[in-house]
Amino acid sequence: MAAFICGTGSCLPAYRMTNEEWTQYVETSDAWIRERTGIESRHIVREETCVSMAVQAAKSALEQADMEAGEIDLLVVSTISAEHILPCAACEVQQQIGAANAVCFDLNAACSGFLMAYHTALSGIETGMYKTALIIGSECMSHLMNWKDRGTCILFGDGAGAVILKNSSRPFYLPAGHSDGSKKDALLLRSRHSGEIDNFTDPQYYMQMDGQAVFKFAVRQVPEVIREVLKKNGLKQEDIRFFILHQANRRITEAVARHLKEPLDKFPMNVDHCGNTSSASIPILLDEMNRKGELHRGDKIVLAGFGAGLTWSAAVLEW
Ligand code: ACO
Repeated sequence: MAAFICGTGSCLPAYRMTNEEWTQYVETSDAWIRERTGIESRHIVREETCVSMAVQAAKSALEQADMEAGEIDLLVVSTISAEHILPCAACEVQQQIGAANAVCFDLNAACSGFLMAYHTALSGIETGMYKTALIIGSECMSHLMNWKDRGTCILFGDGAGAVILKNSSRPFYLPAGHSDGSKKDALLLRSRHSGEIDNFTDPQYYMQMDGQAVFKFAVRQVPEVIREVLKKNGLKQEDIRFFILHQANRRITEAVARHLKEPLDKFPMNVDHCGNTSSASIPILLDEMNRKGELHRGDKIVLAGFGAGLTWSAAVLEW
């Protein structure tokens, strides 16, 4: 029993921060950020929280799917930035939307988290364990960034995206996924609960990144995992309508398109107005495209995520 996406939703914080505003915090410029990343602005939480954005995205996905929250069997939130460690964000979302029948848990695979949550839900539906699943990526990346480190802070944004999966008779496509813990230092964020006294002012308790290493990793592994997932499912690149990648930055997406020798218009992007929202980026983009009517029944779409761990993964789905 395979699954299909029957509803999408998203939530971006009301406050939109332009590149120009970053010049108040670090030595940078709109031109540098645009040229190196394709980012023009990002949304940053003020009133919103990881859970409140997840709730709004979930409600809008339920409305689109014309479903009641009580029909959800599995609720997974992919996040690295929830306000509470306990309880998990998924249980908080459950309570606020009234998904009383759902099994709830959070999942952390950084920017690949939405893909990993999608695979988890898919396998649960495939085995008959669940009939429906609500998967949410929600991130307050602005809480994790060092606002004095110009190499990282300008990249990220906040937001949430949600999809609802339902069992169906559509074809089941095997996913592909990989991890390499030996490269853990490329993207590092220490827990602020590790016991040191001064941990809120110490830069090592914010996101640390080897930007060039991440860039090279993404450009090498993403085309490979896309080819792998297509081969596993007996599909060719020309069968695919869209390649929806984690929105890290425009140059990575362009390089992946070049490696695959595919036109850039098969690689939708929203990094220009969202920045990098980690595990929320793919479901936010899916929702934007869905609501603009850009996705059509029968379209085959590849999703690909990559990030800290290192982790990278791809999935094929039929709209
Ligand atoms: N504004 C102005 N100058 C800057 C800024 C900034 N915001 N940040 C760095 N610089 C400077 C550097 O200090 C350096 O100056 P120097 O030559 O005087 O030493 C110069 O710009 C070049 O720095 P590089 O780090 O070499 O710049 P690079 O071309 O590699 O671009 C970037 C940096 C954009 C981070 C790039 O490495 C990249 O895109 N990496 C991918 C990382 C990524 O997307 N991470 C997302 C999180 S992980 C994920 O989602 C998978």
